[in-house]
Amino acid sequence: MEHVKQKGVPQNQYTMCWLDYKRCEDEEYLKKVIPFISNIFILDNNYYFRNAALELKEAIKNIFGVEPNIQTTSYLDFHHGTLIGKLGNEVIEKFLEKEEKEQIGNEGFLIKVVATKTQNIILLVAKTESGIIYGTFELINRLRVKSNLSSLYIIENPKAPLRVINHWDNMDGSIERGYAGSSIFFSNNRVKRSLKRVRDYARLLASIGINGVVINNVNVRGKAIWLITPKYLPELSEIAETFRLYGIKLYISINFASPIYIGGLSTADPLDPDVFKWWQETVKTIYSYIPDFGGFLVKADSEFNPGPYVYGRSHADGANMLAKALLPYGGVVIWRAFVYNCLQDWRDTKTDRAKAAYENFKPLDGEFLDNVVLQVKYGPMDFQVREPVSPLFGGMEKTNQMIELQITQEYTGQQIHLCYLGTLWKEILEFDTYCKGKGSYVKRIVDGSLFGWKYCGFAGVSNIGSSINWTGHDLAQANLWTFGKLAWNPDGSVEGIAKEWILLTFGDDKKVVENILWILLNSHRIYEKYTTPLGLGWMVNPGHHYGPNPEGYEYSKWGTYHRADTKAIGVDRTSKGTGYTLQYHPHWQKIFDDIEKCPENLLLFFHRVPYTHRLKSGKTLIQFMYDSHFEGAEEVDVLIQKWEELRGKIDEDIFNRVSERLKMQKEHAIEWRDVINTYFYRKTGIPDEKGRLIYP
Ligand code: GCU
Repeated sequence: MEHVKQKGVPQNQYTMCWLDYKRCEDEEYLKKVIPFISNIFILDNNYYFRNAALELKEAIKNIFGVEPNIQTTSYLDFHHGTLIGKLGNEVIEKFLEKEEKEQIGNEGFLIKVVATKTQNIILLVAKTESGIIYGTFELINRLRVKSNLSSLYIIENPKAPLRVINHWDNMDGSIERGYAGSSIFFSNNRVKRSLKRVRDYARLLASIGINGVVINNVNVRGKAIWLITPKYLPELSEIAETFRLYGIKLYISINFASPIYIGGLSTADPLDPDVFKWWQETVKTIYSYIPDFGGFLVKADSEFNPGPYVYGRSHADGANMLAKALLPYGGVVIWRAFVYNCLQDWRDTKTDRAKAAYENFKPLDGEFLDNVVLQVKYGPMDFQVREPVSPLFGGMEKTNQMIELQITQEYTGQQIHLCYLGTLWKEILEFDTYCKGKGSYVKRIVDGSLFGWKYCGFAGVSNIGSSINWTGHDLAQANLWTFGKLAWNPDGSVEGIAKEWILLTFGDDKKVVENILWILLNSHRIYEKYTTPLGLGWMVNPGHHYGPNPEGYEYSKWGTYHRADTKAIGVDRTSKGTGYTLQYHPHWQKIFDDIEKCPENLLLFFHRVPYTHRLKSGKTLIQFMYDSHFEGAEEVDVLIQKWEELRGKIDEDIFNRVSERLKMQKEHAIEWRDVINTYFYRKTGIPDEKGRLIYP
């Protein structure tokens, strides 16, 4: 089963996702809101504030049909309008209490309404330009959902300092694991000339509080190696400027062997003084073009990318060398922990890929410099539909960490299947590592509060491209939205986050909100049921990773085996097996080790289980497999039915696009069901208790 290729669309013909402003038909609300929005006063007249004011103006024009005046005046005696200014401005300060001023952090903002007999003022206050742009979008969105102005009062600060999107875009315009058209940054081995789409993308990202973007693939090959040179830096500086306007810093993925490829050196050994000097010079050049450059993202010694191991050096040696070069400019090194042996022999049952990241990095805890951040995939393998949380979270107290989530749906239906990931991500963030006792949640680790880190946060592998709706599947926009919202505040409720997305994208029709919310919140559960439940994972077609193939990776070199035979399936990763469970806090080790206590949705990740083993429900494993696949494929009908009920209630193009994909999802879910069920039936010879059709 091949994934269908997505075509891009010409400039200007795309939607703006949740920023498609629709006219507010509520005259009553308009009347109430007009005095507050007919003027916009900017108190710090600079490029960034003007841009924020223009965003607000454009939104107000579209939503309420009135065109506010923008005034960049120091005139102090205004009574009606929206006031945008920085903390410290005397006019602004007049309206603020001491405590509220103290609550506004670096990227945070305050929105406060002053409504008296003579005054109708919305205050938008921040410490920095970034705070202003985030606050502007928040205000726009509040106006769109008709928030009651008399009680509007918001102080928001992002919990995590780094909220970064990773693009796996190649310079030929293709996107590794991209399912929504081609790159918006590159084509034909060049940086795209028009930045119109990049700018709209920056707007989308700012509206969800993102503050960093890596625009090129972590696998840095060919021309992309040269992105850090003056060959491309003038164009990259324009991209950086576009993002800067929206509070977003540019980062670049680098090839660790660049000193050889482009520097003409004979080595990339991180301890070689010439290598360090080369990186210092390179960094200096980058900052001369991009003064607020974020830093490097590095995939080293991983899947054929070069790294410090080539020279017998450690990952700390490699990362620290780059970190030293970046330090004078405030840049960071984001170093990926996705390091494992990708040339394993399937006959080797001792090596367990799940253990690799921890084995490679745990011994280095405390050795990394302060401006190095380790970027850790959420699970120990590779973004499967379900994996346990990586034991590196909570395992390295002295190393800055970011969690890497995959917004693009490589293993979760490639934006053909509807699979909302917010529910899964929330479970991951709420996982209690116990590393500092009860309450040591992943979300408290990656937001820096548990260990007091300065650099840490969230990385999300992008799901956008040049397609008409950015994400291929219109409802996959919710995944990007949710990533941003959870990175901003991992304590947020997923229901609330998803609901806000629906309101802003589709409006407030009760049925629309109710049905789409149901669809989103149940979609991952359903996808998991008809693909690889119980933490089984993989079973996909090798290479492109779409569609079922139970033994697609079974005899490969990638280390992703389930080792099914006629009696049992799964890998024993307990302390008596590969020992993977020993990487967890004893609290979890005991639970994961015990087949009775292990969370059932991870059973086959941790244990080798006979098909006749009884689960908590009393069902045998094999019967569970059959039931899960029949039910999962069946439940796709509920998604279809709930969507069908919305016909006529939402934009026809969107409706049709989603309907088409749901139809494909149904077909492909049936394929999953039948392939997997037949596989298990053929292995075991055990029939389905309920006598449903399993192809022999
Ligand atoms: C997965 C994915 C690759 C990607 C890699 C990574 O293995 O299939 O395309 O390069 O992850 O995260 O580096």
